[in-house]
Amino acid sequence: MDTSNIQQIKQRYSIVGNSDGLNRALDIAVQVAPTDLSVLIIGESGVGKEVLPKVIHDNSARKHNKYFAINCGSIPEGTIDSELFGHTKGAFTGAIGEREGYFGAANKGTLFLDEVGELPLATQARLLRVLETGEYLRVGESEVRKTDVRIVAATNVNMQKAIREGRFREDLYYRLNTIPISLPPLRERGRDIEMLFRKFAIDISEKYGRDPIRLTPDAKELIMAYKWPGNIRQLRNLTEQISIISPEREITSEILKQFGVTNDNTEGGLVLTNPNNGSQHSYENERELLFHLLTKIGNEMKDLKDYVRTNIGNVQHRQQENTPARRDDFMDTEAILNDGITFGTNDGIKITTVQQKNANNSQTARQPQFVEAEPDSIIETPLTIKEIEKMKIIEALKRNNSSRKKTANELGLSERTLYRKIKEYGINL
Ligand SMILES: Nc1ncnc2c1ncn2[C@@H]1O[C@H](COP(=O)(O)OP(=O)(O)OP(=O)(O)O)[C@@H](O)[C@H]1O
Ligand SMILES: [Mg+2]
Repeated sequence: MDTSNIQQIKQRYSIVGNSDGLNRALDIAVQVAPTDLSVLIIGESGVGKEVLPKVIHDNSARKHNKYFAINCGSIPEGTIDSELFGHTKGAFTGAIGEREGYFGAANKGTLFLDEVGELPLATQARLLRVLETGEYLRVGESEVRKTDVRIVAATNVNMQKAIREGRFREDLYYRLNTIPISLPPLRERGRDIEMLFRKFAIDISEKYGRDPIRLTPDAKELIMAYKWPGNIRQLRNLTEQISIISPEREITSEILKQFGVTNDNTEGGLVLTNPNNGSQHSYENERELLFHLLTKIGNEMKDLKDYVRTNIGNVQHRQQENTPARRDDFMDTEAILNDGITFGTNDGIKITTVQQKNANNSQTARQPQFVEAEPDSIIETPLTIKEIEKMKIIEALKRNNSSRKKTANELGLSERTLYRKIKEYGINL
């Protein structure tokens, strides 16, 4: 292994870590780069697959030619063939001009097919042909065209399972997988976890002009023991959240636990069981989204509790002083008690909002009543995790002026997952 070359690559692409698994992946990438062999990058969601194809392209003889990264999961099934292979004018309704397609445009260059496991079967057949013969047809055309494109693909889905279930062609899988590169999950990267935490803490501190957060020894132990189901993406999001939300700069294991990092990897509601056994979609992506939402909800609950505490404190203070309580002393508390929220996990995840029946809105300023809701005075409105997911996605889309890219970024999701969710929930924004 040429370690100095690998160190240079890490610097150039801001890749942090020194674990054997990461170094091995980079070493294979560098060795395979000068060849034209197809490479398949495999690894859980959030492990850093997206940088490797660029490393391969930049270290190949094709580096002065085109490089395109295409997310196969985010292109609608109806247009993917035309995006990849081009189309003739009038090939289908709306095809007003002709289109070259990525395979034509990337001639002599490299195509990165991200989320390749999401390709529709018909497109898989076209892809196999172009990989084997260099020939392809534009949609709506019978003239065979030639191209010379190097393919690097990536996937976080279990391809063997996809093949068994008939969703992915076995012959294409072997063709793409000429050189497999596996990126290990974060939990197997030892000290890299701490290095990455430091990098993200410094990045965010520079962005917002605050001191970077630091981990106490017990917090370091905790991040090493934690399983990181969302891998490096999750670590980055978490470091950003803590940097912004926490007033402390010394981060203890207690603070980390408030953000859902726990060494009990089987409980706590944040490490979830697969709600969708047998689903064709990746468990990692579902988990990543749920994880993110729950962390967010947890933080919101903490804010609500702080509000209640402060407002009750105000009222008690006035009662002790025998001065009339002011409405704004407990307005927030009242709202919270009336529209209170509870949530918990119950065989999987169910989040429940609680409203007081016949809420007593006639509280006077002198007689604030902070009664605990009787169990039988509670109307439970179950909100499924899917409803919450949908709501959060809509809110984020609105905040980002419908930009899918920015929304995916904010929610810490891959664009593919976001597209799939938008489609699944019929969101129209
Ligand atoms: N070794 C690393 N050093 C620094 N940042 C990293 C490293 N690995 C990953 N990242 C960062 O983590 C985030 C997630 O990485 P990336 O998008 O490549 O994941 P992925 O494996 O493609 O996940 P998915 O399968 O969900 O698309 C990115 O912001 C990336 O820059
Ligand atoms: Mg990716």
